[in-house]
Amino acid sequence: MKEKISNLLETAINSINSAESIDVLNDLRVALLGKSGSVTGLLKGMKDVEPSERPKVGQMVNELRVKIETALNEKIAFIKEKDLEKRLLSEKIDITLPAKRKKVGALSPITLVKNELIDAFSGLGFEIFEGPEIELDEINFQKLNIPKDHPARDMQDTFYITENILLRTHTSPGQVRVMTSKNPPIKVMCPGRVYRSDDDATHSPIFHQIEGLVVDKNISLCDLKGSLEEILKRIFGDKIKTRLRPSYFPFTEPSVEIDVSCFECGGKGCKLCKGTGWIEVLGAGMVNRKVLENCGIDPDVYTGYAFGIGLERIAMLKYHVPDIRMYFDSDIRFIKQFK
Ligand code: DAH
Repeated sequence: MKEKISNLLETAINSINSAESIDVLNDLRVALLGKSGSVTGLLKGMKDVEPSERPKVGQMVNELRVKIETALNEKIAFIKEKDLEKRLLSEKIDITLPAKRKKVGALSPITLVKNELIDAFSGLGFEIFEGPEIELDEINFQKLNIPKDHPARDMQDTFYITENILLRTHTSPGQVRVMTSKNPPIKVMCPGRVYRSDDDATHSPIFHQIEGLVVDKNISLCDLKGSLEEILKRIFGDKIKTRLRPSYFPFTEPSVEIDVSCFECGGKGCKLCKGTGWIEVLGAGMVNRKVLENCGIDPDVYTGYAFGIGLERIAMLKYHVPDIRMYFDSDIRFIKQFK
């Protein structure tokens, strides 16, 4: 019996060593260790072994099983590793081959400025509200204290669709839509496209604005100046100063224009600031009592400030765009500069 065991071990190891594929090894496993395999066959011969010898022989058969198992597993691992090595060699990537270039587009400078402003205002807690581009005369004008035939309508050349429906001339109707649907405290910005019948180097029939509105108790002009200074520094750099100049808008009282000190010359006077040292960037003011009342907010309890920023103008200043029509000409050479 002992001889049988050692012979079987020898032939098994030889076959395993000369096997060259995992399939052959799997067949060998069945032939040696399977239900009717040679090792199992040995156990069946145990009845012919002297009872006193049986434990010893039993142990030997077990050892044989373990040795064969180990040899099979080692050989399988070895073949797998060889296969992997072969594959890695044959599938090597030639990194010297030139790659296919992907064409990447660029964002319009208007989108860049819009994103920058939205980011900055969000940081101060402003929420976004977007109103419709086709608007009612009542909301675009009347509720904002610009009645029909009011001379202030001359400030905005309007595309009318019917007598009472028009393309919004500014984003200020966003204020009305927010105030009539929400109670204070209000802190919103309304970005969007606006339309005016106007066309030259600094005016386009379609352009973009961001409206801002804050309504709460005890809001003052100081809040307006503080918040806008913060934002304008983000856009034009830390060194700029701001100043408020008296102005007129029917929907604010008092109304102001906000100027920034020229970021090109530092205020000394240059071509960009036309020698004045200051550049006008936006219109703003304290929300007119009449507008609050028109929107159902008690002006004796609440006050607010509002402002309107023209995105084309900010982008023209920031990126030295000489003519507003360049934004809408679809000339790829223009847009490529903003990659
Ligand atoms: N709506 C004005 C325009 O388009 C801009 C503006 C000025 C908006 C003052 C405001 C504001 O909210 O307070 O010319």
